[in-house]
Amino acid sequence: MPARSQVPARLSHIAPAVVQSEIRAMSVACDAAGGVNLAQGICDTPAPTVVQQGAIDAILGGRNIYTRLDGIAALRDAIAAKLKEHNGIVADPEKEVLVTNGATGALYATLLALLNPGDEVIFFEPFYGYHVSTVVSLRMSATIVPLTPPDWKLDAQALRDAITDRTRAIIINTPANPCGKVYSREELQQIADVAQEHDLYVIVDEIYEYFIYDDAKHVSMATLPGMRERTITISGVSKTFSVTGWRIGYLTAPADLVPAIGYFHDLVYICPPSPGQYGALAGLTQLAGTSFYDDLKSEHLRKRDQLCEVLTSAGFGAPKPQGAYYIFAEASRIPGANAAERARTLLRETGVAAVAGSAFFREGRGETMLRFCFGKQQADLDRACEALRKL
Ligand SMILES: Cc1ncc(COP(=O)(O)O)c(C=O)c1O
Repeated sequence: MPARSQVPARLSHIAPAVVQSEIRAMSVACDAAGGVNLAQGICDTPAPTVVQQGAIDAILGGRNIYTRLDGIAALRDAIAAKLKEHNGIVADPEKEVLVTNGATGALYATLLALLNPGDEVIFFEPFYGYHVSTVVSLRMSATIVPLTPPDWKLDAQALRDAITDRTRAIIINTPANPCGKVYSREELQQIADVAQEHDLYVIVDEIYEYFIYDDAKHVSMATLPGMRERTITISGVSKTFSVTGWRIGYLTAPADLVPAIGYFHDLVYICPPSPGQYGALAGLTQLAGTSFYDDLKSEHLRKRDQLCEVLTSAGFGAPKPQGAYYIFAEASRIPGANAAERARTLLRETGVAAVAGSAFFREGRGETMLRFCFGKQQADLDRACEALRKL
């Protein structure tokens, strides 16, 4: 028998399709070059003190055991209150709210509970790679509907043309990573019409709901007429409270779907981390009604404008996004045969890491685009801007 190291790795046939090599590779290359990482979408600003204290108190108070599989009651109450106040969604905290391991865990459990292998799921392009990879990893198929550049408008006819008799769900991300699109009420209504006509679930990732700029308005799909009963609304505190590593998200869905979603979530994760749930609870309750959410917006608006200006004067096409914390820039002025090469050229010349635009498209597309994250500590953003100015 050959030694283990000589045995070729036997991976599933879809394993190669779900590898997220480029973003990781850029982060490794950035570390090696001692550069500024605007590639990874991790907001590394400090978490609010009350959020930190909530988790610390929970640990010191011995809240170290599994919680109920759907999360602690007080947190579900706080999420229901927030959904009512900020989203206009009325949800029963006992039956219609599930605390999850991030928005990521929420999507995974939702797909396991509601869909079957072979089902088709619609995405809008540019898309968030994890969404598509999660669907592919569950042996479902991703149908991609391109949004129309430069402002990434929905093409309702293209959506209709993509529906087949195996389509079961549409996944939306608003505000969107990577392009910052905030779906308008009219666009959501067009998607809702299709979902109702074809009896589809709509799964909406609203993780960037508090990162909204200018006159854009975040609208939750579940508030549109007739949509509450077919919409799974996913969000979380990773981005809002800068605690991406805590793994606290949540979803709200109709009461007849939540038990099954909760069961699959339990199978994979048992429960979301207990101290993080208490930290999130402290944040949701103690920051409600304060200037926290407005401050978050204005801080990121300032950072958006700072990076957009620098990129524009350096010759990138850098339209200001309406939401989220990424600038999805047209980068053909950076040499390279494709987006990955352009990202490497940029890192070499400036020490700034960005993500190749191709990570958000089907093969062969997005090759002139780069994504820059501005959800960064001010000093790092300043350093990146200074370097980009010298281009
Ligand atoms: C669109 C989108 N959804 C979800 C996540 C991850 O959220 P969570 O940390 O809650 O799993 C990200 C992180 O980059 C994201 O961009």
